[in-house]
Amino acid sequence: MSAVSTLEDKTAVVTGASGFIGSHLVDYLVGQGSIVHAVIRKTSDHRWLNKSDQVKIHIADLEQDQPLPILEKADYLFHCAGLTKARTREGYFRGNAHACEVLYKNCMLSRNNFKAIVHLSSLAAAGPGKPGEGVQENLPCKPITYYGESKLKGEEIAVKHGSSLPVVVIRPPVVYGPRESNFFVYLKSLSNGWNLKIGKARKELSLIYVADLVRAMVQAALCFPKNKKIYYVTDGNTYSWEDVADSSMRILNVNARSLVIPESVLGVVANCVEALSWFSSKPSLIDRQRLIDIRQTSWVASPQSFFDSHGFQPEYDLAKGLYETIEWYKANNWL
Ligand SMILES: NC(=O)c1ccc[n+]([C@@H]2O[C@H](COP(=O)([O-])OP(=O)(O)OC[C@H]3O[C@@H](n4cnc5c(N)ncnc54)[C@H](OP(=O)(O)O)[C@@H]3O)[C@@H](O)[C@H]2O)c1
Repeated sequence: MSAVSTLEDKTAVVTGASGFIGSHLVDYLVGQGSIVHAVIRKTSDHRWLNKSDQVKIHIADLEQDQPLPILEKADYLFHCAGLTKARTREGYFRGNAHACEVLYKNCMLSRNNFKAIVHLSSLAAAGPGKPGEGVQENLPCKPITYYGESKLKGEEIAVKHGSSLPVVVIRPPVVYGPRESNFFVYLKSLSNGWNLKIGKARKELSLIYVADLVRAMVQAALCFPKNKKIYYVTDGNTYSWEDVADSSMRILNVNARSLVIPESVLGVVANCVEALSWFSSKPSLIDRQRLIDIRQTSWVASPQSFFDSHGFQPEYDLAKGLYETIEWYKANNWL
């Protein structure tokens, strides 16, 4: 059965609906004819939130233990809210673990018969792999950062409720696409003529374009798995940062000058930027935790299990996804 007919007139609750991935998911669900209940915070930025009449807004901070009555009516719940940056370990755990306790407790209290709950986790919950070997779902999780630990804790909370709630966990790698602001910093430096490389070692990674990820999340909800509950979803390729730089430069039509930043130098920078960020309202893009991620040589996962069980095929590889992303940045005057 196609996603089009299956989602039409269904009620979907989306947490983190104002964020990068959540806002793309809302757009997709609206396009499929769903009634979307977007859970956002009082302070959330509405600029990416779909303005259709099909979207109803609900204000809730999932770190606060407050009721979420809309869960009683939901056919599907997509949990996209989460913190990708925080200043402290406690901050990550409040946003990525405690928030899950609150959400799933509310799901239980709703006594609703959900068709599926899709929990958005991260490859960071599992930790890096060995070069040349993508991590698979049957390997033990070894997160190496506060973010990764907190995402794993969030998954554990989700899976703990799995006997009563139909939860499926999706672990994406780096997600890129229109509206994204971290990967954008890298593209911006290339477009300014600088190809920044951290250390000399070859580093490999998985990627997924945001439109493919939201399709995969919907597919996970529609073909709810019988036994398995956790899946990696990537575009199926392994890239190096050189591949990313080459593809980006081709599309941007620039020949950026390579600048290798030794990891030791970045360590000093991360310390300084992190210290300065305490005077700012937001956590910094680079800090000592981010540096731990950057130092790893392989952030690659195998999506084969998801592809096989859900008949899923990504529509975007890096070249196609980057092209659309860069076109969007240009059209919106980011580049
Ligand atoms: N982007 C990636 O490359 C990537 C990769 C793997 C996994 N993920 C996971 O995907 C999810 C979404 O990431 P993203 O890139 O879309 O991040 P994002 O743009 O920062 O969006 C996060 C969303 O979560 C909301 N949120 C955070 N804490 C909340 C709370 N306590 N109560 C209610 N809403 C809250 C934010 O609301 P505000 O607008 O109010 O802050 C925002 O709408 C996260 O769980 C992240 O761990 C992302």
